[in-house]
Amino acid sequence: MALEVKFPRKSGKRGNQGLEKLRIYGGKPLVGRVKISGAKNAAVAILPAALLANDTCIIDNLPYIDDVTTLADILHELGAKVELDAKGRISINGSKMTEYRAHYDMVRRMRASYYLLGVLLAKFGKAEVSFPGGCAIGTRPIDQHIKGFEALGAKVELEHGVIKVSADRLIGNEIYLDVVSVGATINIMLAAVKAEGTTTIVNAAKEPHVVDTANFLNTMGASIKGAGTDTIRIKGVKELSGCSYTIIPDQIEAGTYMIAAAATGGDVTVVDVIPKHMEAVSAKLLEMGMEVIEGDDEIRVIGKQRPRKANIKTQPYPGFPTDLQQPMSVLLSIADGVSVITENVWEARYKHLDEVVRMGGNVKIEDRVAIIEGVERLSGAPVTATDLRAGAALIVAGLSAEGITEISNVDHIDRGYEDIERKLVDLGADIERIDENGKSRRLKLVTSRQRAAVGAGL
Ligand code: UD1
Repeated sequence: MALEVKFPRKSGKRGNQGLEKLRIYGGKPLVGRVKISGAKNAAVAILPAALLANDTCIIDNLPYIDDVTTLADILHELGAKVELDAKGRISINGSKMTEYRAHYDMVRRMRASYYLLGVLLAKFGKAEVSFPGGCAIGTRPIDQHIKGFEALGAKVELEHGVIKVSADRLIGNEIYLDVVSVGATINIMLAAVKAEGTTTIVNAAKEPHVVDTANFLNTMGASIKGAGTDTIRIKGVKELSGCSYTIIPDQIEAGTYMIAAAATGGDVTVVDVIPKHMEAVSAKLLEMGMEVIEGDDEIRVIGKQRPRKANIKTQPYPGFPTDLQQPMSVLLSIADGVSVITENVWEARYKHLDEVVRMGGNVKIEDRVAIIEGVERLSGAPVTATDLRAGAALIVAGLSAEGITEISNVDHIDRGYEDIERKLVDLGADIERIDENGKSRRLKLVTSRQRAAVGAGL
């Protein structure tokens, strides 16, 4: 059964992105202001969470990315009324839904479809969701999600690639997570929000998108306390109602542009961000000799000199985010000196460095540690994005390199970065998209005066 596609991709025809490429003519410093979109990782939790309301939820500041259009399609296929507009707003009403099964064709394109388990379990007392697809960044177990559902009284079975969860009643319990997991924390919150009694998640993830999802649920009438700390308490409520909500800015997108500014010796202000969410990245860039100027809701990064070496250890929030390890490793590849990265979250998150080596990088990898001896400059080459953030890293590499870099498997990048070519062109990058027939699509620079004339306001 093929998924009926209702919501088009913003960047072009659906289904052929695997064959598209981004071609970057490198070596141009990025300069200017870039507006950061809504957070992908919050959106992919909040959209399914909206199904729990007895009325319409209107969600604003939605990033118009492929993960979101895919999810909108899935929710529509499940029987929810979904409307998406080009201004980054979606309305969702799941009150008439009866479907509790999400088949493989729906979920294979996105990892975060596991949130449907928690949501449908809370809504119907049962859910059947195919084991999800998504980024290939190592084994991605969901044992902690399952442990949480079971603690609430659900029966969980895996049959023919489908996870089946069911419960006559969900009853609050204390759940200690063996690993700090964003997905498990959010999924347990979703399942517990209408359970009887109180659920406590101990050793919970503290990421901004965990807090945003809790805030959204609370706006619908849930009773969740402690999100953003390592203990979250969820007092079950009988009903959740419709609401309006604005998604937080994307911490990872902002960090990617900050790192790209440093890598190109540029001067970029990321606009509409929450600087507190960016502290780990800002601190590293400062340590590397970059100028970082924080405003109330913007951060300016000036790459005045060659970056100095630095050591990075990825950690759950508020530590250095694993999703920025990949772009940051490119910056370290052109830093002065030897840097050490320890990837503590995912075990196979260095595939992009094979490509960076092909661009002249000097890297040694031993298990979770990458030792990077900085070179003066990378040189452009044909490369392949193996996952979303690997794609972002290769864009940073291409922008900073001398010559032409052609990145294949652009579909990974389109899953998570809204309007990436538009934003980069407006910052002065020389970038074009090559379609599956080898035809180039190159966006024109829009000046700030033109933008102001159409009210974009940057
Ligand atoms: C989310 C993010 C992803 C980010 C990751 C870590 C979304 C949609 N994706 O992914 O971009 O890289 O957080 O910040 O928000 N683990 C288990 N058992 C489980 C669950 C996780 O062992 O049941 C392990 C994982 O293998 C991994 C670590 O816990 O080593 C963290 O994973 P988790 O935080 O769950 O990642 P995701 O929620 O999948």
